[in-house]
Amino acid sequence: MCGIIAYTGHRPAVPAIIRGLKSLEYRGYDSAGLAFVHSGRLHLFRAAGKLQSLEQKLAGGEVLHATSGIGHTRWATHGLPNEVNAHPHLDVHLNLALVHNGIIENYQQLKTMLSDQGCTFRSETDSEVLVCLIAHALNHYGSILKALAWSMSQVHGSYAFALISKDHPGKVWAARKASPLVLGIGTGENFVASDIPAFLPFTREVVFLEDDELVEMDSGQWNVYQASILEHTLKKIHHIAWDVQAAQKGGYKHFMLKEIMEQPKVLTDCLAGRIDHKKNRIILEELEDMPVPSRVQVVACGTSYHAGLWGKYVLESLAGIPVNVEIASEFRYRSLIQEKDTLYLSISQSGETADTLAGQHMVREHGLPVLGLCNVLGSSVARGADRVLYTQAGPEISVASTKAMCSQLVMLYLLGLYFAQSKKNLDSRALNKYLSFLNELPDLLQAQLPQMQIRARELCSRYSRARSLFYVGRGIYFPLALEGALKLKEISYIHAQGYAAGELKHGPIALIEPDVPTFALALENDLLSKIKSNLMEIKARSGPVLALTNPGVELDADERWELPKVIDPLNSFLVLPALQLFAYEMAVYLGKDVDQPRNLAKSVTVE
Ligand code: M6R
Repeated sequence: MCGIIAYTGHRPAVPAIIRGLKSLEYRGYDSAGLAFVHSGRLHLFRAAGKLQSLEQKLAGGEVLHATSGIGHTRWATHGLPNEVNAHPHLDVHLNLALVHNGIIENYQQLKTMLSDQGCTFRSETDSEVLVCLIAHALNHYGSILKALAWSMSQVHGSYAFALISKDHPGKVWAARKASPLVLGIGTGENFVASDIPAFLPFTREVVFLEDDELVEMDSGQWNVYQASILEHTLKKIHHIAWDVQAAQKGGYKHFMLKEIMEQPKVLTDCLAGRIDHKKNRIILEELEDMPVPSRVQVVACGTSYHAGLWGKYVLESLAGIPVNVEIASEFRYRSLIQEKDTLYLSISQSGETADTLAGQHMVREHGLPVLGLCNVLGSSVARGADRVLYTQAGPEISVASTKAMCSQLVMLYLLGLYFAQSKKNLDSRALNKYLSFLNELPDLLQAQLPQMQIRARELCSRYSRARSLFYVGRGIYFPLALEGALKLKEISYIHAQGYAAGELKHGPIALIEPDVPTFALALENDLLSKIKSNLMEIKARSGPVLALTNPGVELDADERWELPKVIDPLNSFLVLPALQLFAYEMAVYLGKDVDQPRNLAKSVTVE
């Protein structure tokens, strides 16, 4: 969590840092701050609350003239989200300033050790302990590089940090361990940041830093060292193909809405190059020579976990491969039962989710194969997996994940077809049918989205006073019910619970009342008659029902929301945006902060 950026170069640093922080605000927005060196001293600006509060505080000639500095946007872990705990943090002698993302797990021991040596602390943060530790080491080693290398060997936990020193204007040091950090290489200027959009308007050349790597840079040069042996490491420069617009709102009021509306393009991009129409085959070159697994174990969190649950239905029904799906924060602490020919599938939009990464590390330590399904190029999940399928959703900025899930579903569907094809489970007529529906999906969704938004807006006022909502579905729609409930909770703050419709009668039906409506996913498929019965049980207990359904389906509901009929499971690609739009319109109707919901951050890089 938290976003960090450092700049050194020829342009005014403060606007470049503020611009970068704006694009990192999705990582946390409890407080923000920046620091730079000017006229031989460190200047520090910090404010509680969103970046706007920091901007209002920036004043003074030095703000205009600084050409290097560091910035931070915080998602609080240690200490309240107030100004004192905001980053950057300074050492006792005001020589060094540091911004940090991650958690220093042994900060209490280090704090005690430093306090015993006379160090005093102003904040409650683990990050202040880190800068004081570096200052303490600098006293001893006399070189910042050596002080950093030693300090990195002393701290446990995860970090990405950037540091400046009053004695070395124009220089920046940065390092990472289990938290994201990328280096942006410009002409006469260099950047480090938690994520690429922070410097994308200035450069597209990036270097992905690995764990335990340490950067020293100024405007003209950058060097990466392996911290443990302080040896220079050669790094590859990658060119980023996507452009700045992809990470901007493009005329939409919110990133979330823009990202929902981008889903037709996401479908097209995910399918591009994946279907050999002449041979009627799925192409997943990344998996060439990989044997078809006997089992698949999915590890993921949040929306990516829901995508994994959806993938279970698809892989099992298309390819006949048993799939187990587990929440990463549970999986990582369980005993790993090694089953022959199991493929581990890490699903993550950001590729930086700490729990998913920990699960993936555990699997790799046992020498087992991991396939990453990931959206962010060069992210930790992508780099730590044996093979990667990139999901091609483009940058997702809104904290509530939308288009990333759409891209995950496409890739999981293609994976199911690919394994089915490899196992000869699918005759070419059936494959042809699926592929032609897939190809029609982007245009169909594009045509439907405007009406879907209108219907979502109409309905949300009716349900805005609900005390709580149930989202129910069966089969392939059960994971989507879970996702619909998650979307509503996280941005509208209305309590919602996703349930397998058939499970309601085993307890939760006790909660059904007139102010607890049910959002039912009742689309035409083999289980429709079953869910119809479940809805009658709800109606019999005075529970209002809103049914997402297809034209011509007869069922007992107070409100219908009709979507055109598409074959299963491709119906999901219409159902998902409907659920997203309902949550979006509800949050807008209730006046909530759609893109930056309270207490959340986009990538959860802490445990
Ligand atoms: O980047 P990841 O896909 O690994 O993130 C997983 C979850 O943190 C994420 O999906 C989260 O649940 C979103 N806020 C859901 O909208």
